[in-house]
Amino acid sequence: MEIRAAAISDAAGIAGLINREIRTGLAIWRNAERPESEIAALLSDRITAGQAVYVAAADGLIAGWAGYGPFRSGEGYRHTMEHSVHIAPAYQRRGLATRLMQQLVAHADKADVHSLIGAVEASNSASLALHKKLGFSEVGRLPEIGRKFDQWLDLVLVQRIGLTR
Ligand SMILES: CC(C)(COP(=O)(O)OP(=O)(O)OC[C@H]1O[C@@H](n2cnc3c(N)ncnc32)[C@H](O)[C@@H]1OP(=O)(O)O)[C@@H](O)C(=O)NCCC(=O)NCCS
Repeated sequence: MEIRAAAISDAAGIAGLINREIRTGLAIWRNAERPESEIAALLSDRITAGQAVYVAAADGLIAGWAGYGPFRSGEGYRHTMEHSVHIAPAYQRRGLATRLMQQLVAHADKADVHSLIGAVEASNSASLALHKKLGFSEVGRLPEIGRKFDQWLDLVLVQRIGLTR
């Protein structure tokens, strides 16, 4: 499985991963699936802005992706990015998220990103363990700020301060 920078032509594969999570999971707090065109526009914006987007790919299949974009609007936040990482169920526990995140963190360090934030649903022990292993620290817990599948959801913020000034 190759880890490489994403291209706009990866939009269908990435949309498949995101929409599966929207339909069945608690990592993305949306109800409506995102059209491939919207993901293509997101990729285009991020690639143009020099923000990281990587895929784990083999033989035209996208098994995982990771990317970062602005955490919040307002120029004071320009050195802080929020990332996402999703691996297809059949490819989990093979180190793909680790490899994607290592690329992402290396990109962040070169791109003047001082702070990388992950927003993790509190029952997602896999993601919390992944981030801990990668050196992220838990910096906040926001109880009952989300709702999906008829339940309140807590959000855990994890952070990595980078190498830049
Ligand atoms: C969380 C997720 C990205 C992990 O991806 P992955 O490729 O399976 O992770 P890796 O194989 O690189 O695992 C790295 C470490 O994460 C932790 N981890 C991963 N999956 C785990 C699980 N199911 N249970 C407990 N720990 C887990 C382990 O510490 C693991 O290290 P180890 O294999 O040496 O024990 C993946 O489960 C996923 O895509 N889940 C659905 C979407 C999601 O939750 N995304 C994150 C949103 S914040």
